[in-house]
Amino acid sequence: MSLFVKKSLAQLQASADEGTSLKRTLGVGNLIALGIGAIIGAGLFVRTAAAAGEHAGPAVTLSFIVAAVGCAFAGLCYAEFASIIPIAGSAYTYAYATMGEIVAWIIGWALILEYALGAATVSISWSEYLNKLFGGRIPYEWCHSPMENIVGHHGIINIPALVILALLSLLLIKGTQESATVNTIIVILKVSIVLVFIAVGWGFMQAKNHTPYIIPAHAAPAILANGKVYTYTDFFRHGWGGILAGAGVVFFAFIGFDAVSTAAQEAKNPKKDMPIGILGSLAVCTILYILFSYVLTGVAPFRDFMTQGKEASVAYAISTYMHMGWLATLVTVAILLGFSSVILVMLLGQSRVFYTMSTDGLLPKVFSALHPKFRTPYKSNMILFVFVGLFAAFLPESVAGDLTSIGTLFAFVVVCIGVMVLRKKDPDLPRPFKTPLVPLVPILGIIICGAMIVSLDTSTQIAAFVWMIIGLIIYFSYSKRNSKLGSMGDILPNASEFEKK
Ligand code: ALA
Repeated sequence: MSLFVKKSLAQLQASADEGTSLKRTLGVGNLIALGIGAIIGAGLFVRTAAAAGEHAGPAVTLSFIVAAVGCAFAGLCYAEFASIIPIAGSAYTYAYATMGEIVAWIIGWALILEYALGAATVSISWSEYLNKLFGGRIPYEWCHSPMENIVGHHGIINIPALVILALLSLLLIKGTQESATVNTIIVILKVSIVLVFIAVGWGFMQAKNHTPYIIPAHAAPAILANGKVYTYTDFFRHGWGGILAGAGVVFFAFIGFDAVSTAAQEAKNPKKDMPIGILGSLAVCTILYILFSYVLTGVAPFRDFMTQGKEASVAYAISTYMHMGWLATLVTVAILLGFSSVILVMLLGQSRVFYTMSTDGLLPKVFSALHPKFRTPYKSNMILFVFVGLFAAFLPESVAGDLTSIGTLFAFVVVCIGVMVLRKKDPDLPRPFKTPLVPLVPILGIIICGAMIVSLDTSTQIAAFVWMIIGLIIYFSYSKRNSKLGSMGDILPNASEFEKK
């Protein structure tokens, strides 16, 4: 059987209406909220400061613009697919229909980096802010990975990260509708906090913190909490190289708009609502991010984010430079809730991708077993908790976060390619939403996302490569043999034929 066997669109569209599928409960409002719920999180409240401190300085605002442009191009491609193939599985499903099984598998495998490691990353950030709320009283050893240290302390395991993951996995098992309602409440809170920070912080900005706006090559180094010296002479640590590398870091802040597409099978009117959900949530967040990062780097000098303000950076900036302890506490509580909604959507996205891969036979059946009462993939949620928990407990935020970004960027590149492939292969297919200016938009998406992949550090690139090799070993030893499509053969009608009937 060919490695490039494809799922016909007709078959995909039919499976969206199967009686055994997930419940359709989400309207357009829920979808935008789902998107914002997944989007605003650790990327904004933790990684903005990291990108400013390590690579871009105040010009992190420009990093956000670069990342947003890459996401917008990819988002337009996602929207076309989501309107044609409105079923669970996101980029994985799109690749299955356009580029064949092995590419779909590779994407599904990369999406594990996005969703599972994304959930792990945000749970680690959740732990940072919880510790801040407790005045730093959680012993360093029990809320940091073994790969982290400061003078006199070494991390052992990140227990708060495990606790939040366990709680949210239980909520997801209970049901999607309940999860979406909780999510909507949190989104309102989270957006309010971002707006309050921008409005109040505006008055505390100091021109000297924004000067020079782009880090010069000869900038003075920063002294880290473990005593090491961090210089800015490398290509990716100053000037436009730094802005690009900063984009690779804050790209994490945009991850999630595509998570909307993983819930397509639970949307009431997916053809119309999916593109609005994806692009609407992306637009709202981009505006908020640029303003937020401008204010944050105006309030605190960027080198602070390498030293004492490294963890829980927003709360640090508010209490240190705005002298508003009460606001820092309020923001911390809201951020904790905000992170929870991100983790929720990431876990939801991951379990839905697993669900689809499992119904295709590429993963064991356990990942698609639905709970008899709640109709959620509860076994998958439990396995996922263990898997994500291992990363959350033992990796630092930066490592998990960069791996998440690289996996997602890779998926974006493939979706951009997929749109071009499908336009050639099936030009007459009805497309409720069409990506404008094909092939220019997908090509620019590939170039910008590709540049961000290159700007991430070498160890991240190697780790992602090793991850993909493991994926291919599993594909050839298990998935290829168990693939349902593989055992049927290439006898399925293509989508245009289906439409004609
Ligand atoms: N975009 C999400 C966040 O920033 C993953 O936390």
